[in-house]
Amino acid sequence: MSSNGSLLLTAHSADLVRAAKLLQAGELVAFPTETVYGLGADARNGQAVAEIYAAKGRPSFNPLIVHVADVQAARSLCIWSDTAQTLADAFWPGPLSLVLPLRDGHGLSSLVTAGLPTVALRVPAHPTAHKLLEHFGGPVAAPSANPSGQISPTTAQHVLAGLDGRIAAVVDDGPCAVGLESTIVGLASTPALLRPGGVATAQIEAVLGAALALPVDGEISAPGQLRSHYAPAARVRLNAQDAHPGEVLLGFGDMACDLNLSKAGNLTEAAANLFDALHQLDAMGKPIAVACIPDVGLGQAINDRLKRAAAPKEQTAS
Ligand code: TXA
Ligand code: MG
Repeated sequence: MSSNGSLLLTAHSADLVRAAKLLQAGELVAFPTETVYGLGADARNGQAVAEIYAAKGRPSFNPLIVHVADVQAARSLCIWSDTAQTLADAFWPGPLSLVLPLRDGHGLSSLVTAGLPTVALRVPAHPTAHKLLEHFGGPVAAPSANPSGQISPTTAQHVLAGLDGRIAAVVDDGPCAVGLESTIVGLASTPALLRPGGVATAQIEAVLGAALALPVDGEISAPGQLRSHYAPAARVRLNAQDAHPGEVLLGFGDMACDLNLSKAGNLTEAAANLFDALHQLDAMGKPIAVACIPDVGLGQAINDRLKRAAAPKEQTAS
């Protein structure tokens, strides 16, 4: 155990079984990949994914990369394609993430994809990451294991320096070989480079026999920065005390409303429910009023996302 309470685990099998059990229990476990150390949570557990944002102190919700053990596990989550197969054959396991359309019944928390209809998937090459994924037996959402705004960790010591006491455990297996995040390629439409990274763009283009499109509007503006994001079609009004005639009300805390982010007023639960709730209310085709959400902790990320949802549509891509 480290000084502030996060478990320091080794890459031995008994420790990886323990790490997998922590993930199954909805806890956060940092683990090595060949790129950087990831901060992992069960990608199907919205509250666990919300805890990633809380631990990192991230002020906004971006979609996270989902790590799986093999192509078969990836295919169970998305609508696979020939191009995806070509790139997987060439670069998986390895430092390449593929963005593909979600498949019906995928089971992922909508917080992982930040409400988008696509998911970023990666099969890491690091043997310890692979063993952990196999012991866990499911998809693991994992951004880099550093506090928001700090540089990505390439050793377990870096992870503890930033997150000790805020996560259940870190699996220490020495420094990461690549030291740079995975390359992200979008395959939901024309193959596009969404983020340069561990696999060189030229190598990917050689395998595809075609140039990758550059990120277009609605993809990213800077490495790792999404410009487009899920926003409801309906008009959204914030800090509502109650619903005006014709509106549906998204509540928080003990109040009468059409849908409640968290009756108990729990911000982790509210974050886990946010995107599903917006999708559900949007499907009702009425303007959405949203109760006031406390602007502390995860409430800041929730409010960031709600403000974007409430902004006039032409301003949402900023
Ligand atoms: O090397 C890596 O990729 C590391 C290690 C831990 O695997 N992970 C990592 O994850 O960098 P993360 O969650 O920080 O990367 C998230 C980025 C987002 O900022 C966004 O640019 C892109 O992945 N992304 C994720 N889902 C997306 C989606 N559905 N559409 C477009 N971009 C997406
Ligand atoms: Mg990062």
